[in-house]
Amino acid sequence: RPAPMIAPSILSADFANLASEIAAVGPSPVDPGVDWVHVDVMDNHFVPNLTLGLPVVESILKATDIPIDCHLMITDPGRWAPGYAEAGAYNVSFHAEATDDPISVARDIRAAGGKAGLGIKPGTSIEPYLEILPEFDTLLIMSVEPGFGGQKFMPEVLDKVRRLREVIDGEQLKLLIEIDGGISASTIEQAAEAGVDCFVAGSAVYGGDDPAARVAELRALATA
Ligand code: DX5
Ligand code: ZN
Repeated sequence: RPAPMIAPSILSADFANLASEIAAVGPSPVDPGVDWVHVDVMDNHFVPNLTLGLPVVESILKATDIPIDCHLMITDPGRWAPGYAEAGAYNVSFHAEATDDPISVARDIRAAGGKAGLGIKPGTSIEPYLEILPEFDTLLIMSVEPGFGGQKFMPEVLDKVRRLREVIDGEQLKLLIEIDGGISASTIEQAAEAGVDCFVAGSAVYGGDDPAARVAELRALATA
């Protein structure tokens, strides 16, 4: 398997200084630089919280060369998701619970030049989606209820990760398993062991005063 990827979530960063907050997790003396920057788009409808949308993502894209991973926690993803890919986001994940037609949304994202990701809330089964995995580049397994940073990791979702790992490896699919929510120095090892490829971490990276050191620490624990 490829080396573990670290994707800091700017949800816990200073929104008035996003360019410097992102630069703080780029290449540093302690880490080669994060793999993706995770941007949480919330519409106060799919989740009870509001963050930012396409205009801010467009500005972020201009401010960094690090691939941007958009996590759309919004209703009607078919209408909005392709625009994020067109703008230049590297990966665009939308939620399984937000659409009846995940295949069309994924195909539209790919047609717009992005990687397509499927988000799965903690209470949602992955079984109905196992046969459409080739439509996706990433499976985003939520390990907290989406909407807020700083919540407690839900270890029970690791059963879904193990099941996905088995299917992906068995069918030799090129699909990344990404986990989002409550990832920290005390939870990342169990997630890595279950088979996660890409680790989102918000408060664990931006909650303190040395984001680069936290990234290096998480990467070391995920690699061990
Ligand atoms: C929550 C977001 C996460 C959030 C994670 O709905 O999807 O990306 O930033 O924050 P932590 O790592 O603090 O749980
Ligand atoms: Zn997220």
